[in-house]
This record gives sequence, structure tokens and C-alpha cells, in this order.
Amino acid sequence: MRIPLIAGNWKMYKNRKEACEFAEAFKKIYRDTDIRAAICAPFTQLDDLVKSFAGTGIGVGAQNVHFEEEGAFTGEISASMLEEIGVDYCIVGHSERRQYFGETDKTVNLKLKKLLRSTSITPILCIGEDLRQREEGQEKKVVASQLEKAFSELSAEEAGKLVIAYEPVWAIGTGKTAAPEQAGEMCAWIRKTVENIYDEETCDRVIIQYGGSVKPDNATEIMNMPEIDGALVGGASLSPDQFMEIVNF
Ligand code: PGA
Repeated sequence: MRIPLIAGNWKMYKNRKEACEFAEAFKKIYRDTDIRAAICAPFTQLDDLVKSFAGTGIGVGAQNVHFEEEGAFTGEISASMLEEIGVDYCIVGHSERRQYFGETDKTVNLKLKKLLRSTSITPILCIGEDLRQREEGQEKKVVASQLEKAFSELSAEEAGKLVIAYEPVWAIGTGKTAAPEQAGEMCAWIRKTVENIYDEETCDRVIIQYGGSVKPDNATEIMNMPEIDGALVGGASLSPDQFMEIVNF
């Protein structure tokens, strides 16, 4: 049984005070259901959120990690540093990191291995095609290739622990959501690709989220698609009420 996961991605929004205010407000309206909720926040807000959400069932995630254990990597944060403060999830390979910070399929793979092999943090692997690739009809080829490279040298056991977020780049922060059928078709394709690389058991285990302009008014339609097990929510996760409406879809 896959438990759906709705994760907020705050990106570079909310200072410490705002994060704590969100946590207080969200805890008041959050009801523990059979859907998991988590907030992926800037590094400096993680510790406060872990403490504030302790015992509530609400998870906390980072938005990036380095793949080495430690070393001369100015500005980076390691997986064990995240684990030490009690982080549950870590986004890996978000399109904004691929686009602006030189994230590659290779570094994505190294980060997945690091998280899966040395911590109990669940990676949220982001994949998705850009507008040009979609217009050229390349979307299935693009995500299959991203998946194959991300999974390089990962065992079926390791791959089965992943959350995969299908986020078409053209739908992120643009207000343009993929039609539920389009999103559902791509998530089904992703599950099929996981089956082709590994086996049926592994593809049945992975949680597949859709991300890209998910809002309270489109969440139900998206979440009702059979192969979609959750959402990665940017803008709408900044408001406790909007985020709760999505969690309650
Ligand atoms: P959005 O962002 O919901 O604001 O489109 C989604 C994401 O980048 O994960």
C-alpha cells in the first residue's frame, strides 16, 4: 500500500519568524490522516521546523544535499548533517538546481546513493521535461533517460524507497498545470520505466508525485489519477490554509 505524500517546497522563501508562524498555524489545522504531509524548507529553518512538528506526523525536508561525507566544499551541507537534526526528506535534482546550479544526472545519482546508503532520509527525486522537449514530443524519452541515470548502480531495494516527483519544467511556477490526464499518463510511464529497469515489486513501491502549479482548486483532479501518489507543491505551500486544502484534497 503506497501512502500518498504531499510535500511543500518553500524554495528560498520564509525567514525564521515566518517559518515558525507557518508551523504554529499549520499545526492548528492539520489532522493526521492517511496522507502524509511534509515541508521542504531552506536549511536555516529546518531545525526549528523539526522541533515544532515533533510528534505531529508532519515531516520536514531539505531542498538539496552534497554527496560527499565531508570535506573542503564551501557552502555545502552533508547528508549526515541533515540526519543529525532529524530531517525526513530531501529533494534531489529539482529543475531549478539543474537549471541554475549545475546539477546533473551524475550528481543526482551520487546524492541519491549518499542519502540511501548512509541515512534514513527519503530522497524526493525530481524529473521532468522542459517546454521545448514537450513540444518536440520527447517527454517520455527525457524522463526515462533521467530515471535510468538517476538509478545507476542503485539496487531494487534502494530504488523502491524513493519518492519520484514528475515536474514538467513548463508547469513550475507558471500557473500552467499539466492536464490531469497528461500528468497521469507521465506518472504511469514513470512507473512502467521503473518496472523495466527493476521489477514489478519495485515499481509498486515507489511513490510518484506530480508537481507544477498544484493549487487547492486542481489538487483533487490531479490526485485522483490512478498512478499519482501525491504532489510537490511550491507556491501554494507558503500559505498554511492553501497547503492544508491540498493535503485534504
Ligand atoms: P509550483 O512549484 O507549485 O510553484 O509550480 C513546484 C515546484 O517547483 O516544486
